[in-house]
Amino acid sequence: MFDTIEKEVVKNKKFLSDVKKGLSGDIKSISSKYFYDKTGDEIFQRIMHMEEYYLTNAEFNIFETYKLELAKIFSPDQKPFNLIEFGAGDGLKTKVLLEELLAQEIPFDYVPVDISQNALDQLHGSLDKEMPSLSFRGIQGDYFEVLNQLKEDNNKRNVVLFLGSNIGNFTDQEAETFTSNISDKLNPGDLLLIGVDLKKDPRKILLAYNDPNGITAEFNYNLLRRLNRELGANFDPSTFEHYPTYDPVTGECKSSLLSKKDQEVTIDEEVYHFTEWEPIHTEISRKYSIKQLHNMAVNSGFEVKLDLLDSNQYFVDSIWEIKG
Ligand code: AVJ
Repeated sequence: MFDTIEKEVVKNKKFLSDVKKGLSGDIKSISSKYFYDKTGDEIFQRIMHMEEYYLTNAEFNIFETYKLELAKIFSPDQKPFNLIEFGAGDGLKTKVLLEELLAQEIPFDYVPVDISQNALDQLHGSLDKEMPSLSFRGIQGDYFEVLNQLKEDNNKRNVVLFLGSNIGNFTDQEAETFTSNISDKLNPGDLLLIGVDLKKDPRKILLAYNDPNGITAEFNYNLLRRLNRELGANFDPSTFEHYPTYDPVTGECKSSLLSKKDQEVTIDEEVYHFTEWEPIHTEISRKYSIKQLHNMAVNSGFEVKLDLLDSNQYFVDSIWEIKG
């Protein structure tokens, strides 16, 4: 109990110092990882159900279409393996695959990894009901610590899932460091399945982050509300405007909150000044071409095994292997 409280305090200190640092720079920014408190999780669920946010349906379509093939690729001889998922969320897409593996009676452990124990508990609850025979081994914690543990158990193949274009929140450099770190911790024959949103009609992309009902805007305003709730800040979200842009050259879809007026905001007794139209950069949702993605695979020590695209070719689940 005491341990949990202490951890909370440390986490909050880090949150406060990150926010202060982000708002003190030349260009103000707050990391998109702070979107996801309880309210943020709920708003993101609504985003995934929006017509405009095509990513979720596209990846769901890939899993539905190729579940048989995926099961074969993951376990060619029905050999037992670990199915490790980074940042599982509500597992809607993964459930399609889990059901198929169970139906084919392939022996595997499902190992979702998430920083949120609450997310893991909810996932465990719903899977326990829907698939009681599933071997569920949720791990709360850091992705790479988990891979360190699994590397030692090298008589089982490890298959890592990183879905939903979560890689898009990284810059190019960060993304390649991330996939290199994964490859360092995998054994020859292990796989990474990475879900990535592809470059396409810029208007289609922009609309996904600028829905007319303002749900994505609400997702961004919640960040300011969270600073008010948890750090005692005094932001008035109605004095900020959600402003996403998409640049087809760099593939970067960037979101900002623009201050609609000259104003001051206080956080932890420190005053932050915002000039009219000054942005707080909140998120990057990077889009890739297949070619860029393949370069990233090779540069980080993988070999591309297969690309699976949805029927509209909006999204790819690319399967990478560590060469033996
Ligand atoms: C969960 C990071 C993949 O960037 O598309 C959705 C989050 N932000 N709408 C994305 C998000 C605005 C999403 N990821």
